[in-house]
Formats: sequence, structure tokens, C-alpha cells
Amino acid sequence: MDENFRKLNSYINDLAERGDLTDEKFLALITMPDGETDEILQKKADAVRRERYGTDVYVRGLIEFTNFCKNNCYYCGIRRDNRALQRYRLSKDDILSCAAQGYDLGFRTFVLQGGEDAYYTDERICDIISSIKNAHPDCAVTLSIGEKTRASYQSFYDAGADRYLLRHETADEVHYGRLHPAEMSFSNRMRCLFDLKEIGFQVGAGLMVGSPYQTAENILSDLRFLQKLNPDMIGIGPYLVHKDTPFQEQKNGSLTLTLRLLSILRLMFPYVLLPATTALGTIHPNGREMGLAHGANVLMPNLSPVGVRKLYSLYENKICTGDESAQCRNCLEQKVKSAGYKIVTDRGDVKREP
Ligand code: 5AD
Ligand code: FES
Repeated sequence: MDENFRKLNSYINDLAERGDLTDEKFLALITMPDGETDEILQKKADAVRRERYGTDVYVRGLIEFTNFCKNNCYYCGIRRDNRALQRYRLSKDDILSCAAQGYDLGFRTFVLQGGEDAYYTDERICDIISSIKNAHPDCAVTLSIGEKTRASYQSFYDAGADRYLLRHETADEVHYGRLHPAEMSFSNRMRCLFDLKEIGFQVGAGLMVGSPYQTAENILSDLRFLQKLNPDMIGIGPYLVHKDTPFQEQKNGSLTLTLRLLSILRLMFPYVLLPATTALGTIHPNGREMGLAHGANVLMPNLSPVGVRKLYSLYENKICTGDESAQCRNCLEQKVKSAGYKIVTDRGDVKREP
């Protein structure tokens, strides 16, 4: 057998057994050539996933309620300076009717995601949270609305929000500075994530795979940071170019590396909630199914009104934005089944213990 193959194989076994590796071994897995070793890694990750979560796939109804954003991240299509984009906001009634429709389709978690939009004051957000919780007490509410003060986070928690998604984007401060304008700070991002944990939210962090200037060492820093944060959820997907951003000349991230990292994360964090993201489904028609086979156990189909879906364009060619996608739940049901898993009607809380 080829020496390098044997070496990589032993690292994968190590990772599966101990959930951790030395820096050097992690780097070897991150940078290994595509091939047979990916398949070995995938099988181990799927075995761990099945041990903890069986074939269950949790679904989250994603409500993209505003594409206004005060930030100017270089990679993101809804950045403030993108004048080509028509902006929209959903009213409280719109949001509640999305949730009600979602409930009938079997969703027991709603994710309110939006740009950092000052129109939605803490008071308005809290009102929306408590209205959803009152209408659907058996559901979890997840927020994904960016960087706020600790006091704001506390008020959302007190209003009944259960979870918060805030991708760290990169755990390397220099790399962070190349993805964001100077007005945004790495230290505030970190402050937010640790505040959210301390307050008691189930927290999701995450990153884009293949974001501009990302190195293998950056990804290693991400893995080390995630070990420190110990999040309940980790959202990763390939970086995808958007033409109306400063990164218009950059390249998309890689499908294989995204799948590989999903498997590595499953082995490092057997309990973690790991979505097969929309970006993964955008870079390849079967991306989400492949994600599930590589250790992912969550899907976040779109519940937003079909009329606004195209406008929530973080990147180009986003799936599920046409008329045919009104009921992603039904569409996904088939895809998930053919991949050998099963969507369950459940809040889908994290299983920290086996
Ligand atoms: N490609 C892929 N993912 C992106 N995001 C933002 N812009 C892009 C892009 N161009 C991700 C970021 C953000 C999440 C909501 O979407 O990681 O945190
Ligand atoms: Fe949205 Fe298939 S999951 S159309």
C-alpha cells in the first residue's frame, strides 16, 4: 500500500477514536489530495452520526425576514453598498403566517434570519419572538440577526428565543480583516459568541469554506476555536461568488473540501447539529444529500414567501427561489429518503450525551 495513503488512513482512525488530532495531522487531512481517503473519512463520520442520531434529519424553517443590512462584508450580496439589490422587509403578520404554514408542514423550529437592520428594534424582535412562541409553544425559535449588545441578546432570550446562529466566519484575526471592512471587528464577533453562550442560548458558529484568502492554517484555527467555543451547531458551506460585491473576481469554494470538513467536524463533535446548507445545495444539485452522507444531520429549507426569496441573495444562483419551491419540505422529503435518511417532526435539540 502507498505510504501516504497508510499515513492518512491512520490519522482518520485516530480522529474517529479520539475526536482530536495534532495540528500537523489535521493539516494533512485538510490538504490531502481528493480521493479514496475522503471515502474512508465519510464512512467513519456517517457511522458516528448514525450512532448518535440514527437516520433522523432535523428540519428548520428558515424565514429570511429582511435583506436590509448596515454591514458591508466583502463577500455578501446583501451588503449595504450593493445598490443593485431591491430591499424588502416582512411584517410581523407575514412572519407569523410563514411560521403557521411551516407548523402545518411539520416544522418545529423556526429560524429568523436577516441582515443587521435597525428597523427591527429589540422591542420589535422580542414581540415577534413571543408571538411565535405563544402560537407554537412546542417550537424552538432560533435567531440569526448578527452582532448585538449583550443586553439585547439577554432581552431576546428573556422573550423566549432558544438558539442563536452567528457564524464566526474565520477564527484568524488577520483573515477576518481581509473579509470585512475596518468598521467590523473580530473581537466584537468573539464577544458576541461568548455572551450568547453565557446567557444560555444554544449557539451556532461556523464558516465559509474556500472564502477568499483562506489557508489550511486558517481552517485549523477554526477547528481549534470551535473546540474552545464548544457550540451546539456548526454551519459550514462553500463560499460562493456574488457579482455585486468587491469579491466578484474571486473563486467559489470547493465541494470536496466542504464535505471533508463536515466529516471532520462530525468526528470531532459527535453530538453537534450540522446542517447541509443551501450553499452546498447551490454548488452541486445533490450537495445537500451528499452533506447528509458526510455527517450532516440538519436541513434548513426556506419558508420565506416565494416573492422575496430571490432578493435574499447572499450569493448567486441560490436554489429554492422559483415557483416550484413553494413547498421545500415535500421536495426534500424525497431527496432525504433516497439518500437513506428520514426527516422527523421534532424540535431537534442537541444530543450532548449518547
Ligand atoms: N457565499 C457563501 N456563504 C455566504 N454567506 C454570506 N455570503 C456568502 C457567500 N457569498 C454566509 C455567511 C453568513 C451566512 C448567513 O451566510 O457565512 O454568516
Ligand atoms: Fe427547496 Fe427542493 S428543497 S425546492
